[in-house]
Amino acid sequence: MLIHMKANPGGQIDTNAVIGRSAVIELLWDTLEQQSIIKTAERRIGKTTIAKKMLAEPRPGWRPVLQDLEQYHSAMDFAMSVYREVHQFLSNRGKATRLAKALVQSIGGVEVGGVFKMPEMASAQWKDVLRTTISDLMNERSEGDDRLVFLWDEMPFMLANIRDREGAPTAMEVLDVLRALRQDHPGLRMVITGSIGLHHVLGSLKKANYANASVNDMLEIEVLPLESSDAVSLAMLLLEGEALVCAESANVAEVIAHESDCFPFYIHHIVKGLKIAGGTVDSHRVREMVKHQLTDEKDPWELYHYRERIPIYYGDDAKTVLLILDDLAVRSESMSVADLLGALKNVSGFDDREALLSLLKLLVQDHYLSRDSNGAYQFRFPLIKRWWKINRSL
Ligand SMILES: Nc1ncnc2c1ncn2[C@@H]1O[C@H](COP(=O)(O)OP(=O)(O)O)[C@@H](O)[C@H]1O
Ligand SMILES: [Mg+2]
Repeated sequence: MLIHMKANPGGQIDTNAVIGRSAVIELLWDTLEQQSIIKTAERRIGKTTIAKKMLAEPRPGWRPVLQDLEQYHSAMDFAMSVYREVHQFLSNRGKATRLAKALVQSIGGVEVGGVFKMPEMASAQWKDVLRTTISDLMNERSEGDDRLVFLWDEMPFMLANIRDREGAPTAMEVLDVLRALRQDHPGLRMVITGSIGLHHVLGSLKKANYANASVNDMLEIEVLPLESSDAVSLAMLLLEGEALVCAESANVAEVIAHESDCFPFYIHHIVKGLKIAGGTVDSHRVREMVKHQLTDEKDPWELYHYRERIPIYYGDDAKTVLLILDDLAVRSESMSVADLLGALKNVSGFDDREALLSLLKLLVQDHYLSRDSNGAYQFRFPLIKRWWKINRSL
């Protein structure tokens, strides 16, 4: 690979600056042969980067379209964005969105220079737009044509936007309509991605299980941090690309991979920090840099998010959640449910085993904790544990 890789934490990176990920990308394509996918992971792990790589280098036979849904605030915005993509896909093949086009025109949609404007009063017809668009897409397909697959990034954000503007029932209906479309058209494929769990977006209506039911025909694939060998390669390429002078660069790259928990975003940050600091890099300086970035008030790694969202996610249970995380952060061993309950009883009088079990389940879904084969709990990511201790002054 003859590329000059620059540290670019959080920025748009070139497809050939994407390191690793071939195994998960293969798994995604293989799975798409059978079913649609819900791709989950903590933010900044590299979900969007994976989608971009799939877009740039699709498996033969597939035509991915990548849409960042965060920008849409109504169900009609979403339906029309799907219409635009399908329209373009079909017209490139000399085919047409016949039904959908007629419908869009009949409800007053006008196209001005590639941008569609839809009258406000037509907004209730988003379902018809979506249905007819997908019908056109599936019906116009001939044997041997590439298959279109929707890569829908930040779907939960869009659902939250729709919930806030048009109400939770509409947000739920979007998921329902998509599910019905998957059932009506067995060949339809979508990859839904997002950093916040659907359970948080729709849970406000006390229907926490509803969101899961509406996507349980899809396979959930979790994106993990980089493989450690890929994390080392990324660190190495960035050190070289930034022309940093290293004492024993292989060792330095190992330390960077380890200190970052193999999150590519943090690897970029460490190298950027080293670059800005200047001078010769050795493993001691890497560790100092990480310590500095973890305690930096400006929070370059955006870790405060893990603390900030707790009251939003857990409401009245936030206090208990903080106690659980504080307790686990200072232990070297994982803790059983009985031990956790005992500890909670001691400090706060909390004594509700069932409630504790539900909270632990949510904390696993939200990537704070993982559960080992003995059923004991521990922080999912050592780095987050380390930061938690610092942030909470434990
Ligand atoms: N495979 C990778 N190789 C190199 N850098 C990566 C890779 N994946 C992510 N990054 C870096 O991490 C940042 C965040 O990744 P991104 O895909 O935006 O995460 P997510 O969508 O999960 O929040 C990117 O801007 C890039 O700097
Ligand atoms: Mg993203």
